[in-house]
Amino acid sequence: MKSGYNVAVVGATGNAGMVTLRILSEREFPLRDIVAIASTRTLGRVVSCGNRALKTQKISDINWSDIDLAFFCAGEGVSSKNAEIVADRGCIVIDKSSYFRQHPKVPLIIPEINLDTLEKGASYGIVSTPNCVVTPLVMTLKALSEVASLKRVVVSTYQSVSGAGRRAIDELYNQSKEIMTTRSSRPEVFSKQIAFNILPQVGNFYESGISEEEEKITCETRKILMADVKIAVTCVRVPVFIGHSMSVACEFSKALPTKNIRNIFEKIEGVIVIDRRGEESGYVATPIDVQGEDAVFVSRIRKDTSVKNGLLYWIACDNLRKGAALNSVQIAESMIKIDPSLSKFRKTYSRTKEA
Ligand SMILES: NC(=O)c1ccc[n+]([C@@H]2O[C@H](COP(=O)([O-])OP(=O)(O)OC[C@H]3O[C@@H](n4cnc5c(N)ncnc54)[C@H](OP(=O)(O)O)[C@@H]3O)[C@@H](O)[C@H]2O)c1
Repeated sequence: MKSGYNVAVVGATGNAGMVTLRILSEREFPLRDIVAIASTRTLGRVVSCGNRALKTQKISDINWSDIDLAFFCAGEGVSSKNAEIVADRGCIVIDKSSYFRQHPKVPLIIPEINLDTLEKGASYGIVSTPNCVVTPLVMTLKALSEVASLKRVVVSTYQSVSGAGRRAIDELYNQSKEIMTTRSSRPEVFSKQIAFNILPQVGNFYESGISEEEEKITCETRKILMADVKIAVTCVRVPVFIGHSMSVACEFSKALPTKNIRNIFEKIEGVIVIDRRGEESGYVATPIDVQGEDAVFVSRIRKDTSVKNGLLYWIACDNLRKGAALNSVQIAESMIKIDPSLSKFRKTYSRTKEA
């Protein structure tokens, strides 16, 4: 009798993939077998998942009908070329790239919020996990919008370099050293020097002046909240290795209960409030505090007196954990809880029927 699930991690040598392997082991995910996949650049490199040492393999060498669940953490290009083929073989894809997030047949899931949408309609065999800013942001907006409807949200992000992949971490590290010694360094991953600087650009800009990241945050927030929320976003890359932060300003259609705003946040599953303003030194959650943590941290909760029913707060979250890998592992755990055979989530949707 088979016990456990056969799992694949595509992009196992990257930031999100390595953290996925770590989280699978930490949470004692019921693994039968696990395969690690990377590009031909790192073929045969050994990565670990708990005490299993895994040699990376090529995506084309895998027999996908033997795999139950595949975590895709290798970027849009790899997902666009391979995810549907893998799902056609009966393997469930949990995709971390943005490629399928706006696809009408692909659910975009934060388990604490919208697990019900996983079970709606025929399964496409692919589930997307949101952008690393969207997950913590929507976890808070959803709870607030249940108290009073949201009129407008203004978000300014402070995003760490790990959100741009492994090479971006190397760039910040090497550039910081080089600038301290030789005072010059050429940017490769980012458009300008990131060390000792901040860049008001995450992703390419569209003709309108909006960046790709800003567009993703707007569209994904609306898809998960299932509401046409007015949202203005400015994304900024900061010289921090791990941990995304953001300031959030919300305007509501009616006044929030002034006494209990903190309670609203405290009741959200997966959120921790750190807001000890009465203490001498004050205490807020910073990227360094949240690195390696699973929760979304909220600080600096206060009224925005510049508008009628306004609220301001600060979020900090480990972008590689709840922002990426943890959320995707939680999706897999939820599927197992709902249907241990996983058959509900394997592909049943027929593209030919639609045509
Ligand atoms: N980092 C975050 O905070 C975050 C959050 C949410 C979502 N995501 C998404 O997760 C994905 C991965 O991001 P990342 O930050 O982990 O990137 P990364 O550090 O650059 O890692 C990319 C991974 O993909 C692998 N890869 C590249 N081409 C491949 C191919 N043809 N076949 C198989 N594997 C291939 C790389 O293998 P090699 O080592 O062989 O090059 C590496 O393991 C992206 O779509 C990103 O948008 C990231």
